[in-house]
Amino acid sequence: MAELVVDEVYLKEIDKARRELRALISQKNCAPIMLRLAWHDAGTYDAKSKTGGPNGSIRNEEEHSHGANSGLKIAIDLCEEVKAKHPTITYADLYQLAGVVAVEITGGPDISFVPGRKDSNACTEEGRLPDANQGFKHLKDVFYRMGLSDKDIVALSGAHTLGRAHLERSGFDGPWTRDPLKFDNSYFVELLKGEEYSEGLLKLWTDETLLDVPEFRRYVELYAKDEDGFFRDYAESHKKLSELGFTPTDSVTKEETQRIITLELKLSKLGVAVVAAVVAFSCFSEIHKRMK
Ligand code: HEM
Repeated sequence: MAELVVDEVYLKEIDKARRELRALISQKNCAPIMLRLAWHDAGTYDAKSKTGGPNGSIRNEEEHSHGANSGLKIAIDLCEEVKAKHPTITYADLYQLAGVVAVEITGGPDISFVPGRKDSNACTEEGRLPDANQGFKHLKDVFYRMGLSDKDIVALSGAHTLGRAHLERSGFDGPWTRDPLKFDNSYFVELLKGEEYSEGLLKLWTDETLLDVPEFRRYVELYAKDEDGFFRDYAESHKKLSELGFTPTDSVTKEETQRIITLELKLSKLGVAVVAAVVAFSCFSEIHKRMK
């Protein structure tokens, strides 16, 4: 693959793709599966060996055929529609952008998106993603391996505010919340109600285990009470997840571009002020000459 250069042309393509994704996701109501695709591409990261992570490798059959990825080919194919229109964008960026847009258009927090991820065909071995039938120790093993924290585990689990499980894909069935197309803190509210009072809603072992240990439970209680706090932490943790193993050093970042645009604006304002001053001065000296 040609060297990826994140210049202004690439940034413009990203903006266009973002708009395409907004339209596609709202038209197809597919925010949940797009978010799950972004998470499953990123969640294979191993901080020690620096393998896996958000590198687009999930597009390869070798990886999307893993049991944990069942159903995600649907999201991969949907993203292909956007890729066809914006071929210079990497799959790695496209999938993470889709995750960010999915959260945004369902009412969740804005998540800062920095482009520049490179694509890889190096698929990781099966078994790096969490197993829904296990408890808190397993969650820690998996998320610590990525370099994430207890707070990240709880905040990111809140993504189950969106979507549902499908019997034919994972063997589980049903949504976690009453409105699975709205990103809010109801996942935590329902979790605290317990089985009895949130009838018809799904709770995986890995959801329930968030109540088992104080270092997780304190965040569940906090987020159930304070949606703004959840949104703040979620946006931070999601950004971390989407940038595992990615350092945008050799790229022009969005912030940098914004800084350049602001600087240009300031300079052009300064230019206008200088021209105005010159015009005013010549008028003044003309009037002064005529008065003599
Ligand atoms: C904590 C460990 C996690 C486990 C064990 C887990 C497991 C699962 C399972 C079994 C499903 C059902 C898939 C299906 O049948 O279609 C699912 C769906 C989903 N997961 Fe997770 N997940 C975890 C964490 C996350 C994280 C961190 C995110 C995002 C940041 C996420 C986002 C989603 C979404 C949005 C869906 C709904 C997909 C749809 O409606 O098609 N999950 N997850």
